[in-house]
Amino acid sequence: MTYSALRPLLILTIAAAMTTNASSGNDAGATTGRREFGKTPSGETVELYTLKNAKGMEADISTYGGVIVSLKVPDRAGALGDVVLGFDDFQGYLLPPPYFGALIGRYGNRIGHARFTLDGVVYTLAKNEGDNSLHGGKRGFDKVLWHARPLNHQSLELAYLSKDGEEGYPGNLSVTVVYTVTDHNELKIDYTAKTDKDTVLNLTNHSYFNLAGQGQGDILAHQLTLNADRYTPVDKGLIPTGELRNVAGTPFDFRQPHAIGERIGSSDEQIKLGGGYDHNFILNRSGGGLSLAAKVTESASGRIMEVFTTEPAIQFYTGNFLDSTIHGKSGKVYGRRSALCLETQHYPDSPNHPSFPSTELRPGETYHTTTVYRFAVEGGL
Ligand code: GLA
Repeated sequence: MTYSALRPLLILTIAAAMTTNASSGNDAGATTGRREFGKTPSGETVELYTLKNAKGMEADISTYGGVIVSLKVPDRAGALGDVVLGFDDFQGYLLPPPYFGALIGRYGNRIGHARFTLDGVVYTLAKNEGDNSLHGGKRGFDKVLWHARPLNHQSLELAYLSKDGEEGYPGNLSVTVVYTVTDHNELKIDYTAKTDKDTVLNLTNHSYFNLAGQGQGDILAHQLTLNADRYTPVDKGLIPTGELRNVAGTPFDFRQPHAIGERIGSSDEQIKLGGGYDHNFILNRSGGGLSLAAKVTESASGRIMEVFTTEPAIQFYTGNFLDSTIHGKSGKVYGRRSALCLETQHYPDSPNHPSFPSTELRPGETYHTTTVYRFAVEGGL
């Protein structure tokens, strides 16, 4: 790696760091709520930023992992409730991860046998789930400290430079994520990245939603619609087989709303392999812009969440690995299926499936994706 190849990334990173310092010393705290969340084991300070819109919707974002620590949205009576799982204290996020609320990178979901070939070179990744690499490896983007720069009281920019070779991935990768709480009760996430060497990339956020409120039982009665005619069946290691299967006539058909629990106990082989839903759905899209991927409704609270994305797919995961050993915010016990994840993404294991949409990023290109979680209430405007 030559200095000249590295230079543009270094300049970007230094500039980002300088702006961070400047704003943290000035008026950022006055416009964006900011407090110390904790210290990493190596003594670095972790900050928590609060973004708020004119209607009172609020998101708390941690610089560790870029975690959405809490997300407060109104129910049908206008009462704010926190709809994401997480921890009150920073220390909770240092425990082995269910990845609550975190930014996921470099590669969302799994890469089979923790390796891939790019430009004829075999890259070996950190194995952190059996033989596979999950969510970026042992120290993915969920476990690093991001540099924060508040853009205004509704937007926060987080930046991270992932060095060439980190977790086995090629290229110095400069990543920026902007979280915005809009006045339409949306949480908007913009992901941007640049590399100085050919690489692969698949960024997402791993929030666990329960629209009744975090810790308020399971999500089996939530109604889900997924704008997907097909999904990618998996093997027993949850790696896509390569088949694109039609959802028609299967428990994976959410093209009309269904309660999540309605078919989750089915004898369908794919449901059994996932221990419930843990699958990548291929979105029906028209064009490359933001398009509706999913809609979730919860009748007791009246809350509705719609997910829009520029990504080609979404991982629908029903918290099958949660097992009541985790005590989360306000001491709530998080049992099996006490939340759902809708992770917008490219398909898992794409680098090993040339027929899947490409996840390659090359020098000179800019990776840019956007996902919006929009909240409303039944009968609302
Ligand atoms: C993703 C995966 C699941 C599980 C969770 C984290 O959603 O698809 O299999 O690993 O992350 O626990």
